Amino acid sequence: MIRVETLMAPDIADGDFLQLASLIRLMLRDKSRDERELAESMRQEWSSYSGPPELQGRRFIVRDSGRIVANADLLPRKMLTSRGRELAAGLCAVISHPDVRGRGFGKAVVRAAFDHVDSGDFSFALFQSRDDARGFYEKLGCHVVYSPVINSRNDEDPEENPFWEEWVMSYSIAEMPDGEIDVLGPGY
Ligand SMILES: CC(C)(COP(=O)(O)OP(=O)(O)OC[C@H]1O[C@@H](n2cnc3c(N)ncnc32)[C@H](O)[C@@H]1OP(=O)(O)O)[C@@H](O)C(=O)NCCC(=O)NCCS
Repeated sequence: MIRVETLMAPDIADGDFLQLASLIRLMLRDKSRDERELAESMRQEWSSYSGPPELQGRRFIVRDSGRIVANADLLPRKMLTSRGRELAAGLCAVISHPDVRGRGFGKAVVRAAFDHVDSGDFSFALFQSRDDARGFYEKLGCHVVYSPVINSRNDEDPEENPFWEEWVMSYSIAEMPDGEIDVLGPGY
């Protein structure tokens, strides 16, 4: 049985931020980024949140022998769809450490996030995926979103897809909205 913990600022220890930075750094294109500096910027970003509680981000993590080896972030986001404004679960920073891949840890942290969609806290989850991770998400019941995804708050190009990876994907136990989804902010 894999134990998934939920971490929410301000109750995330400095040592956990260091471990998270070490893990998340593996995903970065710029591998030269200093781990301590990354941990500090994550700590500041997560600890300075002052918005409404229902929009506060949380992390789902798994530890193995005391080390954080898998992570998924859930960022609640109000989005504009053909049905009106909906509270969606933004999913990002999904990673399991290369040493533990194939042991179900990646699935466990993403499932923990999707449990909040199944429970009705969010209408759906929306996220981006690299091409080589698409099959992982599809096994979890996710689908590619082919409708336009935009950020109308991008003054330079409000019609542009705010995500940068190959695929935008969704997870929902209910119907997804038809047509365009406006994420009302930058990609994550
Ligand atoms: C994608 C990733 C999170 C998977 O983590 P993991 O811990 O190895 O995954 P799990 O062991 O929980 O695998 C769950 C299921 O997905 C399958 N799976 C895992 N990675 C897969 C992939 N890249 N493509 C297709 N299926 C995959 C597993 O075989 C397993 O299938 P099963 O349930 O039938 O046994 C991990 O490979 C990773 O961190 N990759 C680098 C970062 C990344 O790409 N993150 C996604 C950002 S878009």
